[in-house]
Amino acid sequence: MLDKTQKFAELKIDEKSIKVPVSKGTLGPDVLDIRSLYKETGLFTYDPGFTSTASCDSNITFIDGDKGELLYRGYPIEELAEKSNFLEVAYLLLRGELPTKPQYDDFCSRVTRHTMLHEQMLNFFRGFRRDAHPMAIVCGVQAAMSAFYHDSTDINDPWQREVATIRMIAKLPTIVAWAYKYSIGQPFAYPKNNLQYAPNFLQMCFSVPAEEYVSDPILSKAMDRIFILHADHEQNASTSTVRLAASSGANPFACIAAGIACLWGPAHGGANEAALNMLKEIGTPDRIPEYILKAKDKNDPFRLMGFGHRVYKNFDPRSRVMKQSADEVLELLGVKNNPTLQVAKELEKIALEDEYFIEKKLYPNVDFYSGIILEAMDFPTSMFTPIFALARTVGWLAQWQEMISDPNIKIGRPRQLFTGATHRTYKTFDKR
Ligand code: SDX
Repeated sequence: MLDKTQKFAELKIDEKSIKVPVSKGTLGPDVLDIRSLYKETGLFTYDPGFTSTASCDSNITFIDGDKGELLYRGYPIEELAEKSNFLEVAYLLLRGELPTKPQYDDFCSRVTRHTMLHEQMLNFFRGFRRDAHPMAIVCGVQAAMSAFYHDSTDINDPWQREVATIRMIAKLPTIVAWAYKYSIGQPFAYPKNNLQYAPNFLQMCFSVPAEEYVSDPILSKAMDRIFILHADHEQNASTSTVRLAASSGANPFACIAAGIACLWGPAHGGANEAALNMLKEIGTPDRIPEYILKAKDKNDPFRLMGFGHRVYKNFDPRSRVMKQSADEVLELLGVKNNPTLQVAKELEKIALEDEYFIEKKLYPNVDFYSGIILEAMDFPTSMFTPIFALARTVGWLAQWQEMISDPNIKIGRPRQLFTGATHRTYKTFDKR
């Protein structure tokens, strides 16, 4: 029975016209359902970079780019960053609802009991050069998990999907911390079950056998908030990579490794490292105009790192929270007049008053201020993207679970507009 309220768009091609169903979500733009377009018209749509394409339907995260709004399962990111904690947000993203206290305690206890790695995985770390980028180590060790945890690779078994999910949420901090320790030549620090998620990660990064490690509640809160802000973000490049890998039935550890690899790019999760390096290269506020000119010069590949976004044409709400957190953390750490923060604030002010940035609606994104906090916490810039990957693993897993549990899952297989050589026959050397 046709739904009488179903709306249609009409597409006219030459003499032919077809009706394209229009589907409505709970928030955001409606979509043209073009699944039968090729069958009915022999035509593809064309959208490199997917600027106007919805790849799936999802209940997890909603972004309103014009309003600068980000909701995790309907809850504004600002509220979660202020009132929640990362494992509670992880539960929310995975299950769709905030946990009751017993649910929360059970979830935390299960994550806590999966934080250790198989001891033989240490060999993977030791196989890398000491100067390897930590992202290379994290990506490699993550993929290697499918060689160790065979009892949680069957995507058709809900229990194995759940175990794989808990394992990755629990073990990514260990992998990221050990990638850091390995890069600085210090011994690995094992997870401690008496510590919560963020302080446990910090002690695995910064404790040394030579002295007692005392976790700092200010840094733990800032770390936990950074994890929350990076947890999920709709169908971004790395999440889409995870979904595409998962659509072939690849095991969950390999799918997340694919997401990590994609996140590494400077246009995506690698921007936090690039943004801090850029701020340091600028060095002082008087050099900002020179860099603004470079960013506006079409012939110069330089872009303001940490600025601009495919979806946000207003402030990225995460950058606002991050900027406030940077002020608080630096103040509490007694880091007065951090020159990099001063340059960042002055750069933001100048850019937001510049007609180029106003016209192109370029605002600071999540990566603009995060590096300033992470540097104040003594992380080297090479650790910024691994920390992003640690947090985003929760979002990737929530999106992966949503997709894998959909009985109508199909392998992702885009087509193309072919512009290459048409039919031609082989010629031997003497005829070329
Ligand atoms: C993340 O998708 C997500 O949700 C990602 C993310 C997440 O949580 O998963 O939010 C995380 O990746 C944040 C973005 C981090 N990347 C950066 O900060 C790198 C710098 N930013 C840009 O490279 C760019 O803004 C992108 C990649 C973020 C977005 O690129 P788009 O949407 O493809 O936009 P575009 O490149 O087409 O830019 C539109 C115009 C262009 O000028 P014209 O061709 O129209 O003349 O704006 C210009 C661009 O040249 N522009 C910039 C700019 N960003 C865009 N000019 C100078 N500096 C910039 N940063």
